[in-house]
Amino acid sequence: MTREQIAARVRALGPWFHNQNLAGVETAPDHYLGDYPREKWRRFEHAVPADLTGQSVLDVGCNGGFYALEMKARGAARVVGIDHDEHYLAQARFAAEVRGLDIELRRMSVYDVGTLGERFDLVIFMGVLYHLRHPLLALDRIRRHVVGRAMLFQSMIRGSTGATSFDLDYPFAETDVFASPDFPKLHFIEHAYAGDDTNWWIPNRACVEAMLRSSGFEIVDRPEAEVFLCRPSADGAWNLCEEDCP
Ligand SMILES: C[S@@+](CC[C@H](N)C(=O)[O-])C[C@H]1O[C@@H](n2cnc3c(N)ncnc32)[C@H](O)[C@@H]1O
Repeated sequence: MTREQIAARVRALGPWFHNQNLAGVETAPDHYLGDYPREKWRRFEHAVPADLTGQSVLDVGCNGGFYALEMKARGAARVVGIDHDEHYLAQARFAAEVRGLDIELRRMSVYDVGTLGERFDLVIFMGVLYHLRHPLLALDRIRRHVVGRAMLFQSMIRGSTGATSFDLDYPFAETDVFASPDFPKLHFIEHAYAGDDTNWWIPNRACVEAMLRSSGFEIVDRPEAEVFLCRPSADGAWNLCEEDCP
């Protein structure tokens, strides 16, 4: 394809959320977050092995394929990207074609990851949690069905970024603790946030960490303010949710 042909396809497949450089053509050069997500990725890319040879990767909510393609470029044997929006999958397909990288792309909701029927060495679950009406169900299913060794997780965070530790239980008469900005809080967005009516639940930092633990993850690194590297926790308590998590 010539540069003009690539530019024409990029225009036809727009609008793009992921800015990617496809043979010199930028897909979202005017992104409101800058060169996104490349600038963000640079801040935490050291948390992922530079060489993923032989490893399998699942990118949940892969959008235009930026992270899935980065994993393939690092040598992953198999990369599967899922998204519930065909518009974004078409972008990812085209980006993969131009870059000559072989990834599998499937239209699928995060709630259906169990139908994949396999575990992946690395699951990427970034920028999706706050778009879900049922965030814990999604986390539980990812943990139960597809995470093999690690999960790279990111959420928008609003409210306190404090990390006060709280007791495991409080008496009924204790009410002040809920007024602490550091207490885990999930802000419900009834209508829209940032002009986006697909935002539903935006956690503070403590809530992100508590939800991850509650769904059976151990946080092993926080390489960027919103990014958490997790592995399945050895503690089996999360299995208690299995009855509610088919
Ligand atoms: C903010 S973008 C994040 C894209 C990418 N993961 C990143 O971090 O840059 C959210 C993506 O999640 C996808 N998404 C939202 N709800 C989903 C669901 N229920 N199942 C699968 N994908 C979903 C959207 O289509 C969109 O591509």
